[in-house]
Amino acid sequence: MQAANIASASDTKAIERAARIIRDGGLVAFPTETVYGLGADAENPQAVARIFEVKARPRIDPLIIHVADFESAKKYGRFPASADYLARRFWPGPLTLIVEKEPTVPSIVTAGLDTVAIRVPAHPAALALIRAAGCGIAAPSANPFGYVSPTEAQHVAEQLGPSIDLILDGGVCPIGLESTILSLANSAYRILRLGGTPLEEIVSVVGNVEMAVEASGRPEAPGQLKRHYSTRTRLEIVEESMESWPSGERVGLLSLTEPANPRDYAAVEILSPTSNMREAAANLFRALRKLDSLSLDKIIARPVHEEGLGRAIMDRLRRCSVRE
Ligand code: TXA
Ligand code: MG
Repeated sequence: MQAANIASASDTKAIERAARIIRDGGLVAFPTETVYGLGADAENPQAVARIFEVKARPRIDPLIIHVADFESAKKYGRFPASADYLARRFWPGPLTLIVEKEPTVPSIVTAGLDTVAIRVPAHPAALALIRAAGCGIAAPSANPFGYVSPTEAQHVAEQLGPSIDLILDGGVCPIGLESTILSLANSAYRILRLGGTPLEEIVSVVGNVEMAVEASGRPEAPGQLKRHYSTRTRLEIVEESMESWPSGERVGLLSLTEPANPRDYAAVEILSPTSNMREAAANLFRALRKLDSLSLDKIIARPVHEEGLGRAIMDRLRRCSVRE
């Protein structure tokens, strides 16, 4: 297999090269504060089509357009007055807003919907790339469809490397969970995906929001698919007191803090020894990938408290635990 093409995201020449690739209709994986994205020129339908091919992503699953600031966002979406405050408060940052789309957005980006997802990422390399490219960058997470999102350049290289023109390596993503998705369409506030911006922070700004993270029928956002963000290894969420021993299986443990009985497990991944939820979120996908690489019989995940980022962590673990 051909090796992946990786360059340092702190090298300005590499950013220039990446921007040229985007302008010429190629694909660049780039770091954001949440997870790595697989980017193409949002206004080039052929380039965007390659994203779907490389990820084996169904065409019914729309993409997020990444822009450098609120002004540029207005080129692609029609923002209601209520968006001004949200954009000022949360951008750049891990919040995606869904609004009515402008005709400049090709329908392949929005999967034929008349709404569009837009965000301003808070990562210097992502912002530098968008500015140098001079266009919005459509980008899903840079992983095969349905798998755990990548939080390191190496994760991208391992799974999609040879199919991508360039991977910008910006180190570990500091937030480690995908953006929270808030829809402003139809004059309502609806949360479509829990993520890097805690729900409580959004509620404190807009008041009540409708929770639409679990869709019935055709999901509005595949983040709403019951099974998503999944390891190949079976994962179960089990409280310590509910675990039955011996299981006779090679079990990996994913735990917020050090367990009392680490030797009972074939492998243990600790998310944050001090129970810091930011640290836990940042470590979650790396830990899941690590455990998934060990050919274990199953992974047991201890539940975390559902508050702040703990909500998004539990959301990802639950979706990972659903088997077809
Ligand atoms: O943090 C993130 O959001 C990362 C980084 C790369 O920015 N991106 C990401 O993209 O997670 P992706 O494609 O893996 O997830 C985007 C989600 C999907 O569940 C998609 O269905 C939803 O956004 N989405 C996009 N456009 C939408 C729309 N018009 N209406 C509803 N959901 C939409
Ligand atoms: Mg994704």
